[in-house]
Amino acid sequence: MSAALTETPAWQALQAHFETVKSTHLRDLFAADPQRGERLTAEGAGLYLDYSKHRVTGETLELLLALARARGLPERRDAMFGGEKINVTEGRAVLHTALRMPRGTEVLVDGRNVVPDVHEVLDRMSAFARQVRSGGWLGHTGRPIRAIVNIGIGGSDLGPVMAYEALKYYAQRDLTVRFVSNVDGTDLVEKTRDLEAEETLFIVSSKTFTTQETMANAQSARAWLLSTLGDEAAVARHFVAVSTNAEAVQKFGIDTANMFGFWDWVGGRYSMDSAIGLSLMLAIGPDGFQELLSGFHDMDEHFRTAPLEANLPVLMGLLGVWYNNFFGAETLAVLPYDQYLAYFPAYLQQLDMESNGKHVTLGGQEVAYQTGPVVWGQPGTNGQHAFYQLIHQGTKLIPCDFIAFAQTLNPLPLPGGAPHHDLLMANVFAQTEALAFGKTLDEVLTEGVDAGLAPHRVFEGNRPTSTLLADRLTPRTLGALTALYEHKVFVQGVIWDVNSFDQWGVELGKVLAGRIVKELGTDEPELSHDSSTNALIRRYRARR
Ligand code: F6P
Repeated sequence: MSAALTETPAWQALQAHFETVKSTHLRDLFAADPQRGERLTAEGAGLYLDYSKHRVTGETLELLLALARARGLPERRDAMFGGEKINVTEGRAVLHTALRMPRGTEVLVDGRNVVPDVHEVLDRMSAFARQVRSGGWLGHTGRPIRAIVNIGIGGSDLGPVMAYEALKYYAQRDLTVRFVSNVDGTDLVEKTRDLEAEETLFIVSSKTFTTQETMANAQSARAWLLSTLGDEAAVARHFVAVSTNAEAVQKFGIDTANMFGFWDWVGGRYSMDSAIGLSLMLAIGPDGFQELLSGFHDMDEHFRTAPLEANLPVLMGLLGVWYNNFFGAETLAVLPYDQYLAYFPAYLQQLDMESNGKHVTLGGQEVAYQTGPVVWGQPGTNGQHAFYQLIHQGTKLIPCDFIAFAQTLNPLPLPGGAPHHDLLMANVFAQTEALAFGKTLDEVLTEGVDAGLAPHRVFEGNRPTSTLLADRLTPRTLGALTALYEHKVFVQGVIWDVNSFDQWGVELGKVLAGRIVKELGTDEPELSHDSSTNALIRRYRARR
């Protein structure tokens, strides 16, 4: 793929078109087309996407789709699903989609069908989960496991914790499930302080089994366990591992019989549906986990087979490119109107920003355009009382994804009023309406507002939003939703011609931290950093 994305006819056609439509208001687009709100919608894998409140015309969409075709999106998608080594900087296939392939199907990596391998691990995970959940897996002193602590970071934490929180409704509530990620000792101390060592199972989750934070937390967790149980043999009943690195697992002292593996063709941030999801499976059970996988697979099939113009990840990816590269929007707000999805924006931050936070093309040339957006957000309605002011009336353009469910898992009637869920949903609809259409000066003045105050009360509107509406938050819906964003990120990576599947950018900090940690406990050796870093280290040494 050529580096000169901005020189391609498809890009230049979009640029020219942008100049003609950039000031068009959503008020006018809706006025000109009474069916717009029904027309600009798409549906797949149980998710309904309304993208009518975007600053696009029919021509914009055609040009964006033409760009996708010109960048070879269908071919690149098929290459990913087909197991080609599209992660070129690491020489790896990218096959998180194989993790959710049904039993009996085939995906080849270097001539080997990996689907049976996937199901072999799933079967072992399921058998283990059933044992623990039923009280059949006993701790060292013969007591059943009551608490699960997943130790991992990045993709080995964010996916499991997001999905556990999202699916807590379906969890076995007499099992306590916690997630320790931060190397800050506070995380481990606070998450274990009320647990009984005899009833606690640690899952050390690390693709590489070398990550500093996870290894430090795993060592300290072992010390915590042994401080109560004394006997080294207890480790075998209280520690299991999830990793691709059997040698390191063994070295740590975990029996590889208690290790659940995955493969180098699963990226960390794409791994929550691999064995990395073991803590989630323990919480919601093997059947719930299978439902989650089915939801992922539903969306994979939609992405693989739906025409581009009706394809949810394609549409969302292209709309993101439209704002990121033409309107100059720098961020994307993800706003789930469901308290269970509180961790979803944080999960998406790694998925999107670690994937597309890149400055060179696949061929290694510096890009001449913006790549991945800053992703942020938190559940509504809370965010409305915090940062929505800036989205409504600030000077920045912030496209937003609203995510909502027609049915609540916790119906709560309100005596004498609308039930909680109607209140919640009214806010979703009201926000996207207000963001799109705003309130004009005339409307404000007609309300009788003083002319001097009126400018403060004007809402310009024309703030673009997507609304994703599903019937109900289930394991299957969550799988589809997560896969939707995985593939949206892929679509954008293809347009920008970046490798969405490596993460060299986190390496430098890791290397420097490894060097500095040796300098903290001693006055030697002589510090040779810049003057700022030297001074900070000296101050820390003096006051630690
Ligand atoms: O942050 C860098 C990273 O490599 C992520 O991509 C990954 O999810 C995380 O560290 C954890 O890695 P591991 O699972 O190997 O411990």
